[in-house]
Amino acid sequence: MKTIREINLKNKKVIVRVDFNVPIESGIIEDDNRIRQSLKTINYLIENNAKIILLSHLGKVKTEEDKIVNSLKIVYERLKQLANTNVYFSNETRGLTLEEKINSLKEKEILLVENTRFEDLKGNLESGCDEELSKYWASLGDIFVLDAFGSAHRNHASTYGIGKYLPSFIGFLIEEELNVLEEVLNNKDKTVILGGAKVEDKIGVIKKLVNNTNKIIIGGRMCFTFLKALGYDVQNNFVDEEKLEEIKLILKSYKDKIILPIDFISNKKVVDLGDINEECFDIGPKTIDLIKKELLNSSIVLWNGPLGKFEEEIYEKGTKSILNFLNEKNIKTIIAGGDTGNAAHKYNLDFYYISTGGGASLEYLSGTHFKTLDNMK
Ligand code: 3PG
Repeated sequence: MKTIREINLKNKKVIVRVDFNVPIESGIIEDDNRIRQSLKTINYLIENNAKIILLSHLGKVKTEEDKIVNSLKIVYERLKQLANTNVYFSNETRGLTLEEKINSLKEKEILLVENTRFEDLKGNLESGCDEELSKYWASLGDIFVLDAFGSAHRNHASTYGIGKYLPSFIGFLIEEELNVLEEVLNNKDKTVILGGAKVEDKIGVIKKLVNNTNKIIIGGRMCFTFLKALGYDVQNNFVDEEKLEEIKLILKSYKDKIILPIDFISNKKVVDLGDINEECFDIGPKTIDLIKKELLNSSIVLWNGPLGKFEEEIYEKGTKSILNFLNEKNIKTIIAGGDTGNAAHKYNLDFYYISTGGGASLEYLSGTHFKTLDNMK
């Protein structure tokens, strides 16, 4: 894949698709990791005297109200603090004012353009990869750089469309992320931890990885579909009925490879599997010990999805203690983005790698072809 090391950037207008889709609560950025991780590429472009035009989405934009909560202005304020140069903002995603701002950019300066998904309001132009919009955005620059790993699985105008009309390259963040995921795929001595709510997002990864993985540990709300498939009474815990048959088949072929919780925390009490009588929000102490023993046998651990509702202190123990254990024992761990990444940041724990893309990591590991990368070959 072609990287930005290969080109002369001086005085070039470089359009960089970053992923600044950061968690924001009451107007405050809860985790700015995605912004900080994009600085590797941005700083390189500054050092090499490029004019930098940043494009990103933030959330989904379906109504006029969405435009207010999903404006990138908050991100702009944070970027100004982090970047060592002049940073400007464009309220428009197209038109004369945007073009004038781009034309008045000097070398080393940055222009952050408003949320690309504002274009979705006029007929899904960004998410539908509208040809005219792709060509228009491409006409604003000389070079396109894709560095939005978290969105690299989306074939949108700003991630895929522009790249068809400009010389295109990958940035340092995507390069790093892909190298780490390849390392995971090539290592047979790995343990995979999967949690979170949705079973459907994880089935592809389970199928792809199960044959060259030591064990797959399953927690979070998704484990109840597996437990029901094994015949356990899980009461009112959510089960994905549509996926039940598929999970039964997976368990039939790979029962010894899959580790499921044996106890839980429900309404602040510990309950054993078999005695579940209400909704459970975390794994219990016996399961934590079981997981720890298993992790000691691995040379590399891949983790996507928390083991419980870690946002609430009474249900954080499963996720927190396993994160702490991996950190203390110095086990090479790749946190595959999303909520697990947020948890690692919340507890200030560092790991071999914390990915900026949960959904993208899962898709890549499942073997999905990323069309966006075709433009960089
Ligand atoms: C993410 O947070 O997973 C990426 O930014 C992609 O966002 P999307 O699922 O809204 O396309």
